[in-house]
Amino acid sequence: MIKSILDKFNTDKEVSQDEIVKLLDSDDNLLFEYADECRKKYVGGEVHLRGLIEFSNICKNTCKYCGLNCFNKKLERYRLSEDEIIDFAKKGFEYGYKTIVLQSGEDSYFTQDRMVRIIKEIKKMDVALTLSLGEKSYEEYKAYKEAGADRYLIRIETTDVNLYHEMHPKMSYEKRIECLKNLQKLGYETGSGCLVGLPNQTIESLAKDILFFKENNFDMIGIGPYIPHPETPLWTGTDTQKDKEKRFNLSLRVMAGGRLVLKNINIPATTAMETINPKGRIIALQSGANVVMPNITEGEYRRKYEIYPDKICINDYPAHCRNCIESKITSIGRTISKDYGFRNN
Ligand code: 5AD
Ligand code: FES
Repeated sequence: MIKSILDKFNTDKEVSQDEIVKLLDSDDNLLFEYADECRKKYVGGEVHLRGLIEFSNICKNTCKYCGLNCFNKKLERYRLSEDEIIDFAKKGFEYGYKTIVLQSGEDSYFTQDRMVRIIKEIKKMDVALTLSLGEKSYEEYKAYKEAGADRYLIRIETTDVNLYHEMHPKMSYEKRIECLKNLQKLGYETGSGCLVGLPNQTIESLAKDILFFKENNFDMIGIGPYIPHPETPLWTGTDTQKDKEKRFNLSLRVMAGGRLVLKNINIPATTAMETINPKGRIIALQSGANVVMPNITEGEYRRKYEIYPDKICINDYPAHCRNCIESKITSIGRTISKDYGFRNN
């Protein structure tokens, strides 16, 4: 019975790590009902849409789960030109997006000067701008902020330090934390999050992830299931539907737990969830989420930004995705927000 733990969220009492473990470990759907109520109470019925541009799949890193890792020689690499990025952003604005998200692998072609030019150009439009470019120096983050960027997303991926180092050869957990701290210090709305279902990841560590998000008071958290990719070191040769569903369910529980613990933050219904379950994003929106990030990249680039296999919408156009997601959201009685969707806005 998890009801007594869930009821604690409506009091001033602290919910402990052990109690969060119990919530994640159970298969009681009451968690989702409470998370949905909490979402309604703290952020309301509006869903914020963020138009996502995946502008380069070139990456110097070797994250063992990610299809963009630099050892994947089978992936056709691309980077959009500055003009293409700005053009996609303009179209995003015209479709009605109030936030544009620029995401890429860690691609050194996009130097500080180039990024600053792109940011300034996009910020001439009436949009909030989110960046998701990975680990950069304090000076670079500062330059992007001064150029007009509003938010930054960088998931911690896991707070289990050993697992972090196992998953990210040559990267450092401390560096990751420093990036998050620097972003907050610079006044970004800062988003973090984690992967759920990595090999050797424990429920305890997922509970710690949630508490870590709380301690750091992040403005957004993106939680998604790990989806094994054949061109990565973690690939074991198969991935059964049963395993996929297990990771989907657990990621939904971590997300719902995140809502209950952090209350008024922004939480996306992630694309990875929909990749495993065709109703994934709607289920997530009814279990604590209040944000969706439709893809506004055009053409063959969508297919090539293959972080994980079977990514949704790879043959669709931005206008199609916009209509698709809008009708899904309204079908469950929710509305599309007309504002920028900052935290508490
Ligand atoms: N499965 C699911 N999510 C993944 N990401 C990277 N690789 C995978 C994968 N195989 C997530 C990471 C990263 C975000 C952009 O995509 O959490 O932060
Ligand atoms: Fe792309 Fe539904 S969101 S087709």
